[in-house]
Amino acid sequence: MEGFVSGLKYEEQPNDLIVATYPKCGTTWMQHLVYLILNDGNPIAADERLDQIFPHLEEVGNDYICASSSCNNSSAAGCNNYRLIKTHLPYNMTPQNPVAKYIFVARNPKDCVVSFFHHTRGFVKHYNFSEGSFDTYFQLFLTGKVDFGDFFATLRSWYDHKDDPNVLFLTYEQLRTNTRAAVLSVAEFLDPDVYPARLLKDEHILNQILLHSSLDSMKKEPGRWSSERPKEHTPFIRKGSVGEWKDLISDEQAALLDQRMRETFSNEELKHLGDQYR
Ligand code: A3P
Repeated sequence: MEGFVSGLKYEEQPNDLIVATYPKCGTTWMQHLVYLILNDGNPIAADERLDQIFPHLEEVGNDYICASSSCNNSSAAGCNNYRLIKTHLPYNMTPQNPVAKYIFVARNPKDCVVSFFHHTRGFVKHYNFSEGSFDTYFQLFLTGKVDFGDFFATLRSWYDHKDDPNVLFLTYEQLRTNTRAAVLSVAEFLDPDVYPARLLKDEHILNQILLHSSLDSMKKEPGRWSSERPKEHTPFIRKGSVGEWKDLISDEQAALLDQRMRETFSNEELKHLGDQYR
């Protein structure tokens, strides 16, 4: 809570790059992609964790962020001295700077709730829910009573800014369907004069980015992405699937999520978000 209150006081700087998401929508994957793009596809050092390089604003608070350095690999040419920050805040609570850059990753609510359920059961250090049922969790998610509140409100808040020049709005499903294209759009967003040309000129860099950010590769090093969780629970990097929700969500529950989406977005907007959101 302390970090949360303090994090809200952070004054966003022009060289900030913020990866914003509702939890379980592909935050870690995007953070890692950004890091790899800025560092020519070289993975983080063996003794480093992603959250040291790319801290979570409302967890660590203002002072930590202010003290954190920019892109830590000073040998990477053109890393632009970005300060890398992660947040799960809705747009209106996220510290703003008209020159800072924001990447928002959306995910369909059905895969998100399933992922968040497993996450909540597994993180016994943070939650007292290791034996909790999916039906109980679903109800909490639907009514915005889970960590970081209402999924639909957060998605709506960022969707409203998807066309802002300093916002890149992507979906987890886009990333899954065509990771290469998504990587290039992130590269373009980070610096159109530097990264797209570098990645396209040297396929090796692009291939390294795709290799190190792949689900299989990230699964091998769980300690880099998350604090430890008991072995009997599902790992942090889990299935990474689109549509796995069908195994757990009943027809009635799916209809309730669809209804919330229809209340929150117009048909056109749902079409734009993609099939998984309708
Ligand atoms: P699942 O639980 O559905 O597998 P976040 O980082 O926001 O907590 O998101 C976690 C979700 O992203 C998990 O989804 C996780 O498996 C998935 N994920 C993490 N790294 C991934 C990668 N490299 N490729 C695809 N999905 C990834």
